[in-house]
Amino acid sequence: MRRLVAETSLSPNNLVAPLFVREGIDEPIPVPSLPGVQQHSVSTLVEEAKHLASLGVGGILVFGVPQRKDATGSEAWNPAGVAQIAIAELAEAVGDQMVVMADLCLDEYTESGHCGVLGADGDVDNDATLELYGRVAVAQADAGVAVVAPSGMMDGQVAAIRGALDDAGHSGTAILAYAAKYASSLYGPFRDAVDVEIACGDRRGYQQDPANAREAIREVALDIEEGADMVMVKPGVAYLDVLAEVARFSSVPVASYHVSGEYAMVMAAAERGWIDGPAVMAEHVLAIRRAGADIICTYAAAELAGGMNG
Ligand code: PBG
Repeated sequence: MRRLVAETSLSPNNLVAPLFVREGIDEPIPVPSLPGVQQHSVSTLVEEAKHLASLGVGGILVFGVPQRKDATGSEAWNPAGVAQIAIAELAEAVGDQMVVMADLCLDEYTESGHCGVLGADGDVDNDATLELYGRVAVAQADAGVAVVAPSGMMDGQVAAIRGALDDAGHSGTAILAYAAKYASSLYGPFRDAVDVEIACGDRRGYQQDPANAREAIREVALDIEEGADMVMVKPGVAYLDVLAEVARFSSVPVASYHVSGEYAMVMAAAERGWIDGPAVMAEHVLAIRRAGADIICTYAAAELAGGMNG
């Protein structure tokens, strides 16, 4: 009876697994603050993607961890950069079974750890960054990605990326915009996963204030106007009110990201035997779905999909 009348259902199709690929390693390296998550080599990444595809997981979201960082983050658009090499292999191996997406940002690639290039005043230069985002988008699309996911929250990024993709003949490449992204403390473990330390300052200049919901709605509306094919609210469980509001008015599919800190808290409490980890994880993800997400990025994608498959 409960099953018959359940208002919300969750299928592996709704899930996207974030995956990390690190340049210059042969064996996967576990991320200590994200139990179950690894930095992959290109070949173990492809194996993991095949496993996720066999479980019916809807998509993967690739993050590159380069060996060399510089001021502009130039490895991010190098055709021979680790993310591009990984994307090409993933597109070939699993591109027909699941959606291969790539995070589009510079923080993994810049010495500063910021999402863009710094101007003379030491602040991120929004407009100079847009041009670089265009190059990254084209490099990822050339490599065969189906969806680029800009996560830097620069003003005008969706329009700039759409323009760059179209000019390069990639009008079929979709954009999943991290449209409402909060300057949250819940991204801590992620920074371990991508070897990023923010050298100076923080991201409050370009990410949203956790105290505010209305500006998130405005940001989402702008991104849709600029051509976003899907929009994301991030983090997940801590921002369900914003997600529900966005899901009510969005004309495009809505995604949410159960971020590293949210995942790590569940895993840590479970490790101490204080909560039932798999049950809490499933409840979190179901809550995100109930609030209106069509797509849920989660580090627990394989476990959750495994459970759903019986
Ligand atoms: C930026 C990016 C971040 C996350 C996804 N894309 C880090 C940030 O904005 O600081 C966070 C994901 C997580 O915490 O799980 N490239």
